[in-house]
Amino acid sequence: MGKKVTVVGAGFYGSTTAQRLAEYDVFDTVVITDIVEGKPAGLALDLNQSRAVEGFETKLVGVTTGPNGEGYEAIEGSDVVVVTAGLPRKPGMSRMDLLETNAKIVRQVSENVAKYAPSAVVIVVSNPLDEMTALAQLATQFPRNRVLGQAGMLDTARFTNFVAEALGVPVKSVRTLTLGSHGDTMVPVPSRSTVDGKPLRDVMSAEQIEDLVVKTRNGGAELVALLKTGSAYYAPSAAAARMARAVAEDSGAVMPVCAWVDGEYGISGVYLGVEAEIGAQGVKRVVETDLDADELAALKEAAEAVRAKQADVAAM
Ligand code: NAI
Ligand code: 2OP
Repeated sequence: MGKKVTVVGAGFYGSTTAQRLAEYDVFDTVVITDIVEGKPAGLALDLNQSRAVEGFETKLVGVTTGPNGEGYEAIEGSDVVVVTAGLPRKPGMSRMDLLETNAKIVRQVSENVAKYAPSAVVIVVSNPLDEMTALAQLATQFPRNRVLGQAGMLDTARFTNFVAEALGVPVKSVRTLTLGSHGDTMVPVPSRSTVDGKPLRDVMSAEQIEDLVVKTRNGGAELVALLKTGSAYYAPSAAAARMARAVAEDSGAVMPVCAWVDGEYGISGVYLGVEAEIGAQGVKRVVETDLDADELAALKEAAEAVRAKQADVAAM
């Protein structure tokens, strides 16, 4: 049977994600929803009209949803649901400033996803990411492997881009990794990063690496300061769309994602940025990698920081 993906939220992140998913031409249907009257239908119409130019057959359907779940029938049968609903940051705001507002939105969306697409894998992107992922699992009551969050793909992509630019090498020759939270306790992992297969630490000084680590951690804020009216969406949507595709194709690709950690790295009972194998049921397994002592300590610190916040969202 053909694959179906839903993108909830037709803002910048949602619309660019829907476009990427449609242009892959691997789904039968991409549904895009929002609470704004007409907007998702308009975006779907516009994207459908691009099919003849871009040459894809995927059909887009745009639906406005209501406060009591009106319109959610359209998501029935979705294999994957990407949740982008929620406010983005404004300059000066931290992702955590969005917590209460976005918790209400993500809870309402998740309850409807559970009702109308009970077999779906849910990929959360709304911020603050680690907390919204935990909340989506609580609100859907889906098995934990079927709820995951997008952050590590984006943070890793930023780190990779910064390294490639600093060294003047093709982006494809660079491999980097970031783990931990999508926030202050993000853990870029230089020990697992390479350039043309050589350890990053052999081709860059410790100071240079630290500068790029700081730039990566501040990557989202740098963009918010430039864009002024919202946050990044091209790189974020590329990341979420790849994750949704890995689910649809049951690819087993290993990606840095926000996943439920249950004993790996000596950490348990928390949604955290780790590498995981992604397939039709979401997270097939968390993949543990060797970390330096300081990187492992930073990951444990990140786990404790997000654990405290994730406990708060249960009541939201
Ligand atoms: P945006 O403001 O352009 O779009 C958000 C959309 O959500 C709006 O169209 C709004 O009407 C809709 N919405 C609000 N409540 C809804 C509901 N109950 N059901 C359906 N739709 C609803 O914001 P943008 O740029 O699309 O960002 C979306 C979220 O993604 C933000 O929370 C942002 O912080 C987050 N984000 C996360 C990243 C990550 O790496 N995890 C990266 C970039 C953004
Ligand atoms: C980003 O990292 C704001 O989370 C968003 O771009």
